[in-house]
Amino acid sequence: MDAYRIVGGKGLEGEIAIGGAKNAALPILCATLVEKGTYILKNVPALKDIKTLSKVLEKLGLRVENLDKNTLKVVNEGLKSIEATYDLVKTMRASFTVMGPILAHEKRAKVSLPGGCAIGARPVDLHLKGFEALGCEIQIHHGYVEAEAKELKGAKIVLDFPSVGATENIIMAAVKAKGETILENAAREPEIDDLCNFLVSMGAKIQGIGTSKIVIEGVEKLYPGEYTIIPDRIEAGTYLVLSILSKGKVKVKGAVREHMDSFLAKLEEMGAEIKEEGDLMWIETPVENLKPAIVKTMPHPGFPTDLQAQIMTLMSVVKGTSEIKETIFENRFMHVSELNRMGTNIKIDGNRALIEGVEKFEYAEVMASDLRAGASLVIAGLYAEGETIVTRIYHIDRGYEALEDKLVKLGAHIERIKVEGV
Ligand code: EPZ
Repeated sequence: MDAYRIVGGKGLEGEIAIGGAKNAALPILCATLVEKGTYILKNVPALKDIKTLSKVLEKLGLRVENLDKNTLKVVNEGLKSIEATYDLVKTMRASFTVMGPILAHEKRAKVSLPGGCAIGARPVDLHLKGFEALGCEIQIHHGYVEAEAKELKGAKIVLDFPSVGATENIIMAAVKAKGETILENAAREPEIDDLCNFLVSMGAKIQGIGTSKIVIEGVEKLYPGEYTIIPDRIEAGTYLVLSILSKGKVKVKGAVREHMDSFLAKLEEMGAEIKEEGDLMWIETPVENLKPAIVKTMPHPGFPTDLQAQIMTLMSVVKGTSEIKETIFENRFMHVSELNRMGTNIKIDGNRALIEGVEKFEYAEVMASDLRAGASLVIAGLYAEGETIVTRIYHIDRGYEALEDKLVKLGAHIERIKVEGV
């Protein structure tokens, strides 16, 4: 199994470019199920999750081809199946977001329930409530959800929680439904705006993009075409923490400030000065000058849960007591025990983590438990003198394109090695 061997304490320097947003590319790829035609998607990150979803689309009858590393051509000549099977959905729960677009195209779908994951139970009840409101009969048998409707009809849907996945699934089911759908308390993440803009570029009628009230007027037909995915704000945030630890020698290329307001505001509250020039962003403020802070993860535009582990890693070496409250996922502190193996001083109290700043990270052998936790351990390893081994990096491969290549370009000593078992 692959692991990273990192010899830390090397001064990192240079520009690190941001790829396309994983969490925009995934729902946009699902949306190619909505209408027959040829789609050209640009700035698609070359990630394991994208490959997995491409396999799901191919099983449903689409053709997915790489025109180059980050450009996909998707050809939909009609679905050959309406079933997304457990073997694929279990490896990537975001594949559940094929259900809405299959329903829009076929008015019936059979999709495996995704099951839980390391960071939480992650049910799909809000997705199903939305499909029912649009006129679907829902049955759950043997781990599969089956939905069918004579006709999808627009409806008013109020989400109990602004779930990203439920918002995306319902929007895609509603774009070709009869009449108007009003989605209240919708999620507002920039990746959802990107999905909506992609659908509108094909002729969908969607109002209120970026707000918590999205209004979709169903249309007969959509017109597939070309679309470019937004940059990945979570990848950008991850590398901005590296920029701080490098005293600004690492500069992040291609981040979109507007997508990262709450994260940048928190860094500024800690005393960081954000520098920008052209499409470069960096922070020269030394860690010693930063203050502790309190973070509460929230749906967008609140502080993103996907940057919780990364800012915790930073706070671990900021003098004083910081606090993080994780309100989105019930089990997203798996990185704490691994960071503490690297010499940090973090205590967990329910969904709160108390972080007592320490002088520096220590090298150690640690294990990635999920995508963002893995990224936080790599950051700590790069700044711990000595050899750190990070195992289970298959989690990291899901969401960071060519991580070790990008870091080596900055002067990092990181290599992918094979380790037994773990
Ligand atoms: C998306 O997951 C992202 N994944 C996650 O990023 C991200 O952490 C999450 O949104 C929150 O921002 C993708 O976009 C592929 P949710 P999603 O539905 O859609 C509960 C990463 O690191 N809920 O907003 O699954 C749920 O259990 C990943 O890139 C219900 O109770 O998130 C959770 O506690 C990790 N019922 C909360 O809502 C439902 O029907 C947020 O889930 C749906 C969700």
